[in-house]
Amino acid sequence: MSRTVYVNGQYLPEEEAKVSIFDRGFLFADGVYEVTSVLGGKLVDFGGHAKRLERSLKELDMAAPVDMDELLEIHRQLVEKNGIDEGLIYLQITRGAAADRDFAFPPEDTPPTIVLFTQSKPGLADSPAARTGIKVISIEDQRWGRRDIKTVQLLYPSMGKMMAKAAGADDAWMVEDGFVTEGTSNNAYIIKNGTLITRHLGNEILHGITRAAVLRFAREAQMTVEERPFTIDEAKEADEAFITSASAFVMPVVELDGQTIGAGAPGAVSARLREIYLDEMRKAAV
Ligand code: PDD
Repeated sequence: MSRTVYVNGQYLPEEEAKVSIFDRGFLFADGVYEVTSVLGGKLVDFGGHAKRLERSLKELDMAAPVDMDELLEIHRQLVEKNGIDEGLIYLQITRGAAADRDFAFPPEDTPPTIVLFTQSKPGLADSPAARTGIKVISIEDQRWGRRDIKTVQLLYPSMGKMMAKAAGADDAWMVEDGFVTEGTSNNAYIIKNGTLITRHLGNEILHGITRAAVLRFAREAQMTVEERPFTIDEAKEADEAFITSASAFVMPVVELDGQTIGAGAPGAVSARLREIYLDEMRKAAV
């Protein structure tokens, strides 16, 4: 049986409920959510969920599309329309659909997306598992330590981009345990005394396709390449720095945390690598 769900102010049959493919929840995981249980047709600890939701929204500088009284009303309407006695209500709010994919947040007047749906779960309280208990295994907490996988979990990079903008910069290099991992959406490099230094591959960074090509071209040009971690201090003392990605190719970095790198202008090696990269890639483009 088709559920009635709530999307952006409308109660609709679930088949008719749609959100844009440009929604930032879809493209960047730029959204927050809550799950509230329903017992005996009533919402369990709605106040607690509403409060955490408000906090999550605030932490992400995200506008609430409805106030908490309205939200309570929507929850109640859905319980009633779907005849939920025991079950769950899922709520998701995202930063809405921007005109285009951009790590930076969209204009403030972009309407947020709000979606709610119910899940009927008879026996939620009187659960058989609660009588027998459940089994667990231990795993390493890697939330999100698998940056080598190119997932759409891009909320923090997106926040980082905004932090950079707020600081009058173009992008941010992320640092973990004192060492640079990578840029918000690119790999990071420094050049010192002719040696090209970039973090080694591992779970900590995305294995850039541009990175692989640029390192190959650098080696072919007889440059020494060191794949190892480097610090912000080392980067500040570098002769040159740059980033690589499919959208930036080889992009010189001339300032880091307000400090000029090298001469404060794109360095010769970075410029040459950009040239080689573009030449070679144009030739091989399919
Ligand atoms: N970003 N590191 C991160 C975290 C990235 O998101 C990207 C790419 C790269 C560079 O990978 P490649 O050279 O394969 O593009 C490194 C793309 C361009 C983006 O999200 O827009």
